[in-house]
Amino acid sequence: MTSAAPLGVFDSGVGGLSILADLRAALPGEEMLYLADTAHVPYGARSDEEIRALTDRSVAALHARGVKGVVVACNTASAFSLGHLRARFDMPIIGLVPAVKPAVQATRTGVVGVLATPGTMRGTLLSDVIREFAEPAGVQVMKAVSTELVPLVEAGEADGPRARAVLREILTPVAQAGADQLVLGCTHYPFLAGSIRAEFGEAFTLLDSGAAVARHTRRVLDGAGLLSGRGQGGQARYLVTGDPQRAAPVIATLLARNVHNGKETHRADLPPRIECIQT
Ligand code: DGL
Repeated sequence: MTSAAPLGVFDSGVGGLSILADLRAALPGEEMLYLADTAHVPYGARSDEEIRALTDRSVAALHARGVKGVVVACNTASAFSLGHLRARFDMPIIGLVPAVKPAVQATRTGVVGVLATPGTMRGTLLSDVIREFAEPAGVQVMKAVSTELVPLVEAGEADGPRARAVLREILTPVAQAGADQLVLGCTHYPFLAGSIRAEFGEAFTLLDSGAAVARHTRRVLDGAGLLSGRGQGGQARYLVTGDPQRAAPVIATLLARNVHNGKETHRADLPPRIECIQT
């Protein structure tokens, strides 16, 4: 069985583009429909109920456009919505969890940092992986939280002085505690790798969830008979709920930055096709 329908990819904003890059590499024959809820970003400081309701509306908008499954490329939305989405929609829903497991496996100092939004810190997905992987291994987890970083990435200021100042402030205690791995527990944060390195050099190995979620998505689609059957040529289209003129240059810039675990390569792509919708 095959399916030519697009795969939906959802984030509160442009952060999920860091996941989209891994998805397109792992699934080069798939059409992708990316939805950024830019009218409501950031989600991180919102209540559990608001995050769940906004995520539900966005996934419903993708479902109405005929997607065959959705990758919730947002740690904050995943933390509060996966069970609810799976009960409501009859299609694969794939979520994200911060990459604590590989960080625990890789640490030599026994201390790892997790950088995430307040929502992700509050949700049970993060505490579950800490309980499952870090605690039995005796690894200390240092949490660093911010509500400012997501809006800075949305504004195209991931490399700017304010982002660097915020990172310096919240990651200094993590570095001082001896952490050698830093889990980027929000999909916007891979785009901050340059600023983190500018402030902390090679103090941390940076870990994101992109490659793991892309492999998992491939397995899920394959298992459900939903792969397109094409080996290449899949295109991506972009939907935003906010001002498309504002989003377009940021999306184009971030698409060209192929980031994976803190390493970046430039990628040439077609100019993005961006449409504005209401959810
Ligand atoms: N990219 C989202 C995440 O992974 C950002 C959440 C927000 O909008 O605050 O958590």
